[in-house]
Amino acid sequence: MKNPLVITIDGPAGAGKSTVAQMLAARLGLNYVDSGATYRAAALKVLEAGASPEDEAVVVEIVGRAEIQFSTDGSDSRVSVDGRDVSQAIRTPEVTSAAAHVSRLPQVRQKLIALQRSLVRGKGVVMEGRDIGTVVFPEAPLKIFLKADVKERARRRLHQDREEGRVASLEQTAYDIGRRDQLDAERRISPLVPAPDAVEIDSTNLAADQVVERIVALARTKGLL
Ligand code: DC
Repeated sequence: MKNPLVITIDGPAGAGKSTVAQMLAARLGLNYVDSGATYRAAALKVLEAGASPEDEAVVVEIVGRAEIQFSTDGSDSRVSVDGRDVSQAIRTPEVTSAAAHVSRLPQVRQKLIALQRSLVRGKGVVMEGRDIGTVVFPEAPLKIFLKADVKERARRRLHQDREEGRVASLEQTAYDIGRRDQLDAERRISPLVPAPDAVEIDSTNLAADQVVERIVALARTKGLL
């Protein structure tokens, strides 16, 4: 059997990473991993413990004790904390905000990166996040950096929020996304930067399936399929 294939997709919030990664995983028969879900699960645990996501020592202690698991089967993936499935519970604005703080801590990243690295099985994975091509799998044979205009990303996020029953304004959403970009890019450890060997794709004017086609073509050119 061939070695499992690892395709990494990094980029800012709202660039379309999860949609593209899920479609690509389904198309190529690989497992989909949303690394952000592991940071969100850690953040949820901190919030449920009643702690402040900005209280570093307490966060490190709580996350250190938490049993965070991730399971993936094709394009479906689930995350659990201490045996409880939290795949839905992590999709709230409170968790989004807490995850941006929790993910800055080296001890938290170390634990979750180990978990992410353990998820390569079967034919392989499409893993999306912020540092997958730079830190988690620096040896991956195909790395994508997906970006899009902040306005377009805010529009997409708003659409998603509305579908999930949340109400927000375009201005507020664009502001929140800009703020999160800043936190992600300024982070001392694992900042959001493209890997030197990543292929950048700007999805502002592309539909998800067009992005997927480009990635499949790249994988073919590299002889990975
Ligand atoms: O992609 P997302 O919104 O679910 O990510 C949640 C948070 O986790 C976000 O603040 C960025 C952070 N994150 C990270 O630091 N590294 C990753 N590989 C994935 C997400």
